[in-house]
Amino acid sequence: MIPEKMNEAMNEQIAKEFYAEYLYLAMAVKFAEKSLDGFANWFFKQAEEEHVHAMKFVNFILERGGSVKVPAIPEPKLEAVEYIDFFKAALQHEIFVTNSINDLMDLAIKINDHASKSILQWFVDEQIEEEESVGKIVDHLELIGNSRNGIFMLDRQLGER
Ligand code: FEO
Repeated sequence: MIPEKMNEAMNEQIAKEFYAEYLYLAMAVKFAEKSLDGFANWFFKQAEEEHVHAMKFVNFILERGGSVKVPAIPEPKLEAVEYIDFFKAALQHEIFVTNSINDLMDLAIKINDHASKSILQWFVDEQIEEEESVGKIVDHLELIGNSRNGIFMLDRQLGER
């Protein structure tokens, strides 16, 4: 059985992962509307990944005889205007998720929940990759600045994800 405290905390994490899916979906749509299909593709894929993350927790709780709370997802509010701001916001969100995963791992260690430690280690490793991939795009956009050629090239590159 999954400990009740962990069950509750993972239910909160499920809501965060689904919110991330919605956030990235909203960002993807903004780029698709401007025909920046590569940027849109990157965010659509990112949204799909977040769905997989949420479902990993859903399935884990079910496997361990817990209770899943299907969350209400608030509408994402996009304040970004410049392209780089979308990716900076995504990076901030990933850092928020990393902290949240670390809190879950702290809890697993504290209550000796070894089964949860195992799945959470996967998320700890995944977050390194998540932060790195979006962080690199922020770096590239900083280098590119307002160069239309640069944006065009990056759009093509992100379309290959
Ligand atoms: Fe599910 Fe991008 O963290």
